[in-house]
Amino acid sequence: MNTPRFLPMLGHTSGKRSPVTCALKCDNACAGEVCNTSSNGYFRDIVNAQVSRRAALGAAAVFGAAITLDTTDASAAVGKPGGHGSSRLPVTGDQRLRFSPIAPVERTVDAVTVPQGYTWKPIIRWGDPLFANSPAFDPEKQTPESQALQFGYNNDYTEIVMDCEVPGRRGGLMFVNHEYTNEAIMFPPTMDAATQRAVSRNAHGLTVVEVRRDNPHSPWRYVKGARRNRRFLLDTKYELTGPAAGSPLVTTKDDPEGRWVLGTLANCSGGLTPWGTLLSGEENFNGYFQAKDDSKENKRYGITTEPTVRGWEKDLPRFSGKNAGYENEVNRFGWIVEVDPFDPTSTPKKHTALGRFKHEGANVIIAANGKAVAYSGDDERFDYLYKFVSKGTYRPNDRAHNMTLLSEGDLYVAKFTGDSPAAEIDGTGKLPTDGSFDGTGVWLPLIKDGKSMVPGMTADQVAVYTRLAADLVGPTKMDRCEDVQPNLATGKVYVVCTNNTKRTEADEVNPRAKNRDGHIVEITETGHQTSETFRWNLLLVAGDPAKDTSTYFSGFPKDRVSPISCPDNITFDQAGNLWIATDGAPSTIGYADGLFRVPLSGHGRGHVTQFLAVPNQAETCGPIVSSLDGWVIVAVQHPGEDGKWTKQESSFPYEGQKLPRPAVIQVTPARR
Ligand code: FEO
Ligand code: CA
Ligand code: CA
Ligand code: CA
Repeated sequence: MNTPRFLPMLGHTSGKRSPVTCALKCDNACAGEVCNTSSNGYFRDIVNAQVSRRAALGAAAVFGAAITLDTTDASAAVGKPGGHGSSRLPVTGDQRLRFSPIAPVERTVDAVTVPQGYTWKPIIRWGDPLFANSPAFDPEKQTPESQALQFGYNNDYTEIVMDCEVPGRRGGLMFVNHEYTNEAIMFPPTMDAATQRAVSRNAHGLTVVEVRRDNPHSPWRYVKGARRNRRFLLDTKYELTGPAAGSPLVTTKDDPEGRWVLGTLANCSGGLTPWGTLLSGEENFNGYFQAKDDSKENKRYGITTEPTVRGWEKDLPRFSGKNAGYENEVNRFGWIVEVDPFDPTSTPKKHTALGRFKHEGANVIIAANGKAVAYSGDDERFDYLYKFVSKGTYRPNDRAHNMTLLSEGDLYVAKFTGDSPAAEIDGTGKLPTDGSFDGTGVWLPLIKDGKSMVPGMTADQVAVYTRLAADLVGPTKMDRCEDVQPNLATGKVYVVCTNNTKRTEADEVNPRAKNRDGHIVEITETGHQTSETFRWNLLLVAGDPAKDTSTYFSGFPKDRVSPISCPDNITFDQAGNLWIATDGAPSTIGYADGLFRVPLSGHGRGHVTQFLAVPNQAETCGPIVSSLDGWVIVAVQHPGEDGKWTKQESSFPYEGQKLPRPAVIQVTPARR
């Protein structure tokens, strides 16, 4: 008998998080088999931001175009390099964002905790009306039609690009991913299941919404009915680009040419390109589709023949590969999506040249030779880290051209080698005698010059079945790569490994067996960003240093850092600090998830301090930090996720309503 995948897994999660999240977000990835059974070794405000003037000059010398300003773009990154007009701005370091770290917050506290002297408020919440004709949010009476016109559920990646149509840095376009839904707390039980599914579908996808502020230091607010507000739903058309476009592996009854896909799903993290578009990662897409069969390809991606948790195949035939003509529909998800937020009529793209896997997100840096280099991690235990190098080169004054860069190029997967004797890496996290988890690495080519580099596979096969292609070339099995982001000022790449409690064999880049708390890898490419070799070291090995001797903070005294576990999303501020959002700390170190700052250079390198904590059962997502203007934005995802409609476990954002509403919030100094 076919049984839904959801219920049997309740109560059987492997430690890290709520069974509800496991079922709804990751399709019980932790409880399932390890997808990778191959034998490989285990293995935004304004630009210039990130950077002090000195660092910017240094970076300019080394990385050239990485910080070149694209002044023809109608965009400027908030807190990220690549924006418009930034060179006119003073660089003020982080003096507007001084704070005393908060103490760790007990995991059941249902509150947003911010540093003394700061306050917070939502910018936009699930259900907020986006268009002139949007109905007001009424949780008792949501309909598919109302949800389609409102802000979606479970906001994850969040970014703001500056809107140069609005003078004085007072306008922006906010881009948000809506990763998944939680019907048990969203809908009254009196709503029939088919309606719940239809509303839920329209609570997925993406949002672009215009935002305004009175001045750069004042809070952002969203603008209902603004011209460029847009929801991306399951009827939004995406163009496939790259090696898989037109391949028989992606054709369906509805799209016999294999060129167009309706919808994007499971959008987790993302990235801002230097040309002012947004990237979004289709992550746990597998859980939305019923497979035709247990082929090795479907198994490698965790796609099973059982009915799905969500049951969308009951309403829409394309969600089951058992329906003739839709065997390949699942191959049309698992990509990096690119969206132009400035043109509400633009057709978003799915870039198959970046490979198909559980993309957390993707982040781009322009190399000194002008190539666009994108880094992306596969968020699955024992899966891999990838890098894409564009065929074409970045043109500072040609946005249309730059928007083609991710359509064609070389795809690589990473292999890490430690420089300490294997016997010294004993799985406990004890530092080897050279004092550092570090070593060298190579980028192993999968596709080069448009051709497959993997024996026995064609380029379109490599693009669609990237995991299986990578298995054949011997990359390193990683501990669930989440955000992978280059620091645009230094070119160093930060790879967030969130955790992997199933690891039994440690290696130097994943040095703990049963890795409960995660770690962050720092990569330095050899000479230039397009290099095929690199050096690496661990920036930090996470956990509660008061209780866990395996923690490591780049040598910073452990008694002065905030406990941190399960790092997930990251961003940089204008002073060059890394900010880390966490997802899973309640079930590891017992504290609420939060946002943390860590300097990457100088005496403070490794000094992790906690800036905020999110409400009961929520994870922290999508951080944007402007130390220049003195504020922080985070997306509060799945507050109160273990509740029921009749027994809610969070009332975030605490506006008198009975149910939690995921929301993007901004933290600012209280007296502003
Ligand atoms: Fe949606 Fe990788 O977390
Ligand atoms: Ca070493
Ligand atoms: Ca994530
Ligand atoms: Ca995560």
